[in-house]
Amino acid sequence: MKILVVGSGGREHALSWKLAQSERVQTVFVAPGNGGTALDDRLVNVEITDPAALADFVVAEGVALTLVGPEAPLAAGIVNLFRARGLKIFGPTKEAAQLESSKDFAKAFMQRHGIPTAKYQSFSDAAAAHAYVDANGAPIVIKADGLAAGKGVVVAMTLDEAHAAVDHMLSDNAFGDAGARIVIEEFLAGEEASFIVMCDGKNVLALATSQDHKRLKDADEGPNTGGMGAYSPAPIVTPSMHARVMREIINPTIQGMAKDGIVFTGFLYAGLMIDAEGNPRTLEFNCRMGDPETQPIMARLKSDFATVLEHACNGTLDTVELEWDRRTAVGVVMAAAGYPDSPRKGDIIDGVPAETAECITFHAGTQLVGGTLQTSGGRVLCVVGLGDSVKMAQKQAYETVEKIHFNGAQYRRDIGWRGLK
Ligand code: AMP
Ligand code: GLY
Repeated sequence: MKILVVGSGGREHALSWKLAQSERVQTVFVAPGNGGTALDDRLVNVEITDPAALADFVVAEGVALTLVGPEAPLAAGIVNLFRARGLKIFGPTKEAAQLESSKDFAKAFMQRHGIPTAKYQSFSDAAAAHAYVDANGAPIVIKADGLAAGKGVVVAMTLDEAHAAVDHMLSDNAFGDAGARIVIEEFLAGEEASFIVMCDGKNVLALATSQDHKRLKDADEGPNTGGMGAYSPAPIVTPSMHARVMREIINPTIQGMAKDGIVFTGFLYAGLMIDAEGNPRTLEFNCRMGDPETQPIMARLKSDFATVLEHACNGTLDTVELEWDRRTAVGVVMAAAGYPDSPRKGDIIDGVPAETAECITFHAGTQLVGGTLQTSGGRVLCVVGLGDSVKMAQKQAYETVEKIHFNGAQYRRDIGWRGLK
């Protein structure tokens, strides 16, 4: 069969890399893909991004199913469009994707269905927002309602920072429509984990757990980014924590959506904060796989992912049992100079080694220019090492990172540190 993967990041490279390993898969198209998917002769980049044109392509090529990586096409309704044309696609409808595309929707939903999350209020009026900040004090968290590519959240440790964030979003219009409404919520302390499941509309299948590193610098300092690295599994999600998250967060979310008249299909990613007493709460929902979490997760998946996806599209995920590599996978993101604020493009990338059984380099912001690999975006590569412990996986990843060169490369040296404890 032929499969189409929509997107161009490290997540999409990892998904298409995994799909191409299936003996049942003839071709994996990636739209639009990146330099890494261009270099892999089992993958074919397609220069189309418009959803209707992608549907035409799928019909013309006889593509059996489509997998969508990023949130923007999901929020714009690519699943609705494909289904209306009778095409198989895995992802949430536009209505279901509101869990990610509107923080206000997600918070009201969680409150309505008793899903544990931080206390909050929504505002479009700046004066009312400032008054709420003053009444609640710092630390406090300010979030743009809409999609802001991971940049719409300010964890304000002081009142000054909180007021500045309110002004930035509501008065200066920094995020346009996405920030015309904001959510202000209680600061939650604890350890984060990414909990991702696949839903077929009836059944839920949990993927391996993982932990992302959102801050730019070692020891979780510096500005928030899209994610500087991730590892899987996350030891904080013990079997009993796993059961509790399914019972208190994932199942009530799927059931709550159904009660509200929305059938949830696609990946559901709950960003968790687990407090010192071991209580999990939901920081946010995403309706897609995480990036970079996908890279270590796909590196560990042993099952045939194309078959899993077919079951996900056919409503038969209850027949699937996933098999995982028992090793730990540590994915280190190499980002461009200037990331996250103003990533530089066009630096030449040297030294990316061939894949081994212990290390795979996934591409994100890369492109081939006349046969030369260059940087073309903020997060450039994600180097995934596999090993019998976090430490051994780190060693594999960092040995490769040190072989790769591009000017201004930024990466953290401590990916997986919480897992070392
Ligand atoms: P979000 O996009 O909502 O996941 O927020 C991005 C990051 O901000 C999260 O991964 C957390 O590190 C942090 N964050 C978000 N909400 C809170 C909160 N209520 N308390 C503490 N940190 C938060
Ligand atoms: N790694 C966080 C995200 O994909 O949203």
